[in-house]
Amino acid sequence: MTETTAAQPLTRITTTATFSAAHRLHNPSRDDEWNRVTFGKCNNPHGHGHTYTVEVTVEGTIDPVTGWVLDFSHLKRIVDEKVVRRCDHRNLNVDVDFLAGVVPTAENLAVCFWNELAPHVAPARLVKLSLHETERNRVVYRGGA
Ligand code: NI
Repeated sequence: MTETTAAQPLTRITTTATFSAAHRLHNPSRDDEWNRVTFGKCNNPHGHGHTYTVEVTVEGTIDPVTGWVLDFSHLKRIVDEKVVRRCDHRNLNVDVDFLAGVVPTAENLAVCFWNELAPHVAPARLVKLSLHETERNRVVYRGGA
């Protein structure tokens, strides 16, 4: 596409990253029995691991000069800096500052990742974050309450 002055099309781009981490589902505001019954084997005292895949989608207008919404390598670097490097090979219950006090379910992780990434994707905007905890299970968050 050549440079135009008309409204540029809105498009979405998605990048994917993986990391491995340990977690334990446990809500310290409830007693051990409640946690055992609620979370089952996910509450085992010493935790367990997952290889997570996070898919980050941003939306924006195509820059008429570059032809990009956002440089893919820039988006990848943001995801790497804000999420992957801080979580990879960590215990999500204790090692990650922005997850302090959070029960590290995939739902909560998706929202926390969103909050870390959203301020850094301008001039695009974050529109979707998918977190795959296993091949079969994933959470999709689109922002908002
Ligand atoms: Ni788990």
